[in-house]
Amino acid sequence: VTPNDFAATILNWFDRHGRHDLPWQLAPTPYRVWVSEIMLQQTQVSVVIPYFERFMTRFPSVMDLADAPIDAVLAHWSGLGYYARARNLHRAAELIRDQYQGIFPTDVAQVRALPGIGRSTAGAILSLASNQPHPILDGNVKRVLTRYFAIDGWPGRSEVLSALWACAERLTPRERVGDYNQGMMDLGATLCTRSKPACERCPVATRCLARAQGRQREFPASRPC
Ligand code: ADE
Repeated sequence: VTPNDFAATILNWFDRHGRHDLPWQLAPTPYRVWVSEIMLQQTQVSVVIPYFERFMTRFPSVMDLADAPIDAVLAHWSGLGYYARARNLHRAAELIRDQYQGIFPTDVAQVRALPGIGRSTAGAILSLASNQPHPILDGNVKRVLTRYFAIDGWPGRSEVLSALWACAERLTPRERVGDYNQGMMDLGATLCTRSKPACERCPVATRCLARAQGRQREFPASRPC
C-alpha cells in the first residue's frame, strides 16, 4: 500500500469517525493548540477540557500568559499534575513575548527550541494549527505504527524510535496534514487501544501486520527489565 493510500484511508475514517468538536479544534491557533497539547501530554481529554476552557478565559493570548505571574499559571494548573509543564509553558510564553513580539513562531526549529516542546509536540502544533507537513509520534501514534508494521523492540530505544519516525515521515501526507495527524491520534485513542483494540472497526486492519499475526497485544513492546 502506498503512503498516499494509507493517508487517504485515515482521512476518510477521520471525516466520518474522528473527533471534530474538541474545544481547541475550534479556532485552532498555534497558541490554543500548544496549550492543549501540553495539557494532553499526561492527561486524558475529558479531564483536560474544563482546564483548557478556564485557562483560555484567564490567559486568552501568549501575551496574557507571558505577563501573568507564575502563581496564577500554577493556580490554573492545580489538579493537572506534572507542574513542570506549566512552568515551561510560562517560560516559553515569556520567550515568545521577548524574542518574537508575542507572535507564536511558525518555523519548526524555533518551535522545537521552546521549553517543553519536543519534536512531536512541535509537529502537532504546526500541523493542527497551520497544516504544515510535519509528522507526529505521540503514544497513540506509536501504538498504531508499531502494530501496523509489527515493529519489535521497546520504542524508548533510539533505533526503534528512529524507525518509527521514518515510518511516520513516509506516511504523512502533504495535504490535510492536520486532519491526518488528528485522525492518527483519534485512531490510537478510540480503536487501536492498548488492551482491547477494536480491529473489526479499524480502517487499516486488513493491512495491519500485528493483526495478521494475531500479536496486537505484543505491541508496543514494553521496557526490558
Ligand atoms: N492527545 C494528544 N493530543 C491530542 C489531540 N490533539 N486530540 C486528542 N487526543 C490527544
